[in-house]
Amino acid sequence: MPQNIIITGGAGFIGSHVVRLFVNKYPNYNIVNLDSLTYAGNLENLKDIAEKSNYFFEKADIRDADLLQSLFEKYKPAGVIHLAAESHVDRSISNPIEFVTTNVVGTVNLLNAFRAHSDMQNGRFYHVSTDEVYGTLGDEGKFTETTPYSPNSPYSASKAASDHFVRAYHETYKMSVVISNCSNNYGSHHFPEKLIPLMINNIKNNKSLPVYGKGENIRDWLFVEDHALAIDIIFHNGRNGETYNIGGNNEWKNIDLVKKLCEIMDRKLGRAAGESEKLITYVTDRAGHDFRYAIDASKLMNELGWAPTVAFDEGFEKTIDWYLANEEWLTNVTSGAYKHYYADMYGAG
Ligand code: NAD
Ligand code: TYD
Repeated sequence: MPQNIIITGGAGFIGSHVVRLFVNKYPNYNIVNLDSLTYAGNLENLKDIAEKSNYFFEKADIRDADLLQSLFEKYKPAGVIHLAAESHVDRSISNPIEFVTTNVVGTVNLLNAFRAHSDMQNGRFYHVSTDEVYGTLGDEGKFTETTPYSPNSPYSASKAASDHFVRAYHETYKMSVVISNCSNNYGSHHFPEKLIPLMINNIKNNKSLPVYGKGENIRDWLFVEDHALAIDIIFHNGRNGETYNIGGNNEWKNIDLVKKLCEIMDRKLGRAAGESEKLITYVTDRAGHDFRYAIDASKLMNELGWAPTVAFDEGFEKTIDWYLANEEWLTNVTSGAYKHYYADMYGAG
């Protein structure tokens, strides 16, 4: 009998890579993608595997506790990999409550459904989380699994709260859980509200490149397919109740990353060197903008043998090529509601 595994948020950026990996790699699992298809979820992201016999889709909102109960009763999943979330910091600043209802209440609804309908001691509830729960770093040091939580944005506060609930269900109800906290991902199918796809889209369309503050904030970037591989390893081999940090050991100042992107885009679009860089515009800084994130992933590397497989230059180039080759995807996801979001956030420019 194949085991049912529910992956929430499977139509989103990271979720679609995880669903694809699991559907292709594990024919003995039935993979159920549970997603409400918000602005960030798009079934086009999965059209290459949609017809596979071990892939199932359920359109469901994790805020709907009753619906989750009935779906968990139907599938009795052996495992849950929970990625569904509101994921954009800027949106959390303008509308925090959505982050509480989906990220916190939605996670608790899932925990309750798993508790009611699955073997919670031998199954596995995996919460996919972010390094942003640890707050911000100065010039030195890295986040480890024992760094105290100190979230600064409504987004990271909601992810921190959901991590705490997952831990609490482990302690209180002996639920088998794992949590991972990962750094910034980049790759294909990334919604163009986040730094890298937004800049690619704007360069392509000759629109200004809004760099927050002085562009000196630092992020650690990991290729999304390496994150999916880490999730696979942690889901199968991570120790019950443990947290694993995931990172690329690949820190970039925002402005340096944007300049590198401009350079590559000039080359790919046949523009004169330096042309795209002229689009850079320094704009008002994000409120409460965390200065630096950096991850110490040695626990995951030493204990479970994971390591990033894709070097940044290679992954970055691949990512840019994907957006240039998938113009229709970009047009589809940037029509409608995106236009309103963009105008509210950055003005008409
Ligand atoms: P995303 O915004 O691209 O996708 C989120 C998905 O969740 C979408 O498919 C959306 O439709 C779905 N969703 C949202 N609200 C829902 C609801 N109420 N019910 C059901 N489905 C809902 O996000 P992402 O960047 O792929 O991130 C996935 C997960 O990984 C999130 O939990 C995020 O916190 C975490 N994470 C992201 C990053 C990153 O760099 N993007 C890094 C570390 C951790
Ligand atoms: P983002 O992709 O939103 O990820 P996160 O805030 O979760 O790290 O932003 C990455 C960095 O880029 C962050 O320091 C904010 C900055 N940024 C800009 O400078 N301009 C932009 O238009 C966006 C979206 C982000």
